[in-house]
Amino acid sequence: MSTEVDYAQEIQELKRSMNAVILAHYYQESEVQDVADFVGDSLALAQAAERTEADVIVFCGVHFMAETAKILNPTRQVLLPDLKAGCSLSDRCPPAAFKVFKEKHPGAFVVSYVNSSAAVKAMSDVICTSSNAVKIVNQVPRDRQILFAPDQHLGRHVMKQTGRDMVLWPGSCIVHEIFSEKKLVGLKVEHPDAEVVAHPECEQAVLRHADFIGSTKGLLDYVLKSPKQKFIVVTEAGILHQMKKGAPQKTFIPAPPDNGCACNECPYMRLNTLEKLWKCMKERTPELTMREDLREAARAPLQLMLEWSR
Ligand code: 13P
Ligand code: SF4
Repeated sequence: MSTEVDYAQEIQELKRSMNAVILAHYYQESEVQDVADFVGDSLALAQAAERTEADVIVFCGVHFMAETAKILNPTRQVLLPDLKAGCSLSDRCPPAAFKVFKEKHPGAFVVSYVNSSAAVKAMSDVICTSSNAVKIVNQVPRDRQILFAPDQHLGRHVMKQTGRDMVLWPGSCIVHEIFSEKKLVGLKVEHPDAEVVAHPECEQAVLRHADFIGSTKGLLDYVLKSPKQKFIVVTEAGILHQMKKGAPQKTFIPAPPDNGCACNECPYMRLNTLEKLWKCMKERTPELTMREDLREAARAPLQLMLEWSR
């Protein structure tokens, strides 16, 4: 019996004894996704965290996702296998600098991407994810100037879709900004029968080659429903696990980044491993905690997002 099987079995037992639910993002390692009760994109995970009645939420994702779970469901204990699992978008939008950015645009309506800290969320009017950003921005009063942070590429995509002008925070995701347009075009020539699906955190130069642009869940749904048999997937490679499970007869080709690698993995997401997941459940640490005043301030724009997403 391999060690991995032991971890997976013990995790199931711990889950029952702790009355825990394991929520995992599509960018987690395959074996982590396979022990989860629910695998989803940022929005679906936030919704699942809000409605769960389990005593413990074990969040296999990055810090802002676990923080969102705590904000929406504060009476649950929230565990994260590795507290250092950050996000370049969130890290490159420090609250002090964001405050200055906001002060330069008095009266503007602030839409922040969920990939941000609780402190930035607390300074925002509404939050969005990649799956509802267009819907959210379309509901901002027409007479208000919009500030959008922290992902400039998602912001540009939303501007194109909504026709709304927005002032963009100059942030980007270190994973999605390094997809190579040149290599993508080469792959398209090599596989003319493939459709290209891409996450909106990619640069416009890459997105213009996409047949479909969407959140991780949006991309998954699209490839499963499409009559096409081959897809070039331009996002973090973890999503391929659910694509292959859902349509084993189809071919999925991960788009290469602009370095020597064949596929692109998020170094933050990959800090969580099956062993760390088991250890954090066994020891009930690390736990995500936050100040109540901050939690309360960040809750209002998140709640508005959930209302506007219905
Ligand atoms: P999704 O909301 O599409 O799952 O995206 C999360 C993320 O971090 C993308 O890099
Ligand atoms: Fe953040 Fe990019 Fe990793 Fe998503 S893929 S968690 S946006 S660094």
